[in-house]
Amino acid sequence: MNDVLIEMHNINKTYCTGEVEFKALHDVDLRVEQGEMLAIMGPSGSGKSTLMHIMGLLDSFDSGSYIFLDQDIKRLNSNQAAYFRNQNIGFVFQSFNLLPRLNILDNVALPLIYAGEKRSVRFEKAYHVLEQVGLADWRDHRPSEISGGQKQRVAIARALVCEPILLLADEPTGNLDSQATKEIMELFQTLNQQNMTVVIITHEKEVAKYVNRIIKIIDGRVKS
Ligand SMILES: Nc1ncnc2c1ncn2[C@@H]1O[C@H](COP(=O)(O)OP(=O)(O)OP(=O)(O)O)[C@@H](O)[C@H]1O
Ligand SMILES: [Mg+2]
Repeated sequence: MNDVLIEMHNINKTYCTGEVEFKALHDVDLRVEQGEMLAIMGPSGSGKSTLMHIMGLLDSFDSGSYIFLDQDIKRLNSNQAAYFRNQNIGFVFQSFNLLPRLNILDNVALPLIYAGEKRSVRFEKAYHVLEQVGLADWRDHRPSEISGGQKQRVAIARALVCEPILLLADEPTGNLDSQATKEIMELFQTLNQQNMTVVIITHEKEVAKYVNRIIKIIDGRVKS
């Protein structure tokens, strides 16, 4: 039996845009154990990214409880939440979000600046995670000089550089062809075998076959 990493109970989230309210999540319960690799699937607009933003402490929720390890997330102020996120969670997005003017090594090392690491440690750690994703030889190149699949591997290296215990990926293969998708999913699998907990949001059935568990979300409700 694995340890519980995430325990969400009755999470509700409403967006207010001017006069309009939209309830994006209804009483969501979610439990994630350490070492799991799971997919969150559902139609467009069903609340997947909203759930990921809450899981990743990028956004707040209206009611319910969220425990990450032994931390009650509701008790953190925004500075504490940012620190907790930087320490524990790595993010991967569909659009890679690499900075075009920085080379690959600097892109990967960037989160360590916010973590307050000194320069030599930053480059050593960035090099190490680039080796892990098989791109150390590309460290001096700019993002524009590598393929989509390679860009996503760089983004995964950047997500790993602060040694998180959870990787959250929102449609990580949405911009990739089938060969690159396979490579990225195999990389996530390898990381998972090394004990990383991985949560992947996806539309693609192809992607879902790499995970141990699928959670379905429809109209802001979890239908497992
Ligand atoms: N910042 C926001 N302000 C207002 N409404 C929002 C906001 N973000 C999301 N929503 C609404 O909440 C609902 C859920 O959005 P969410 O982005 O979580 O869906 P999703 O499942 O990730 O969709 P997709 O597969 O298209 O990415 C949608 O109806 C969306 O319009
Ligand atoms: Mg989304």
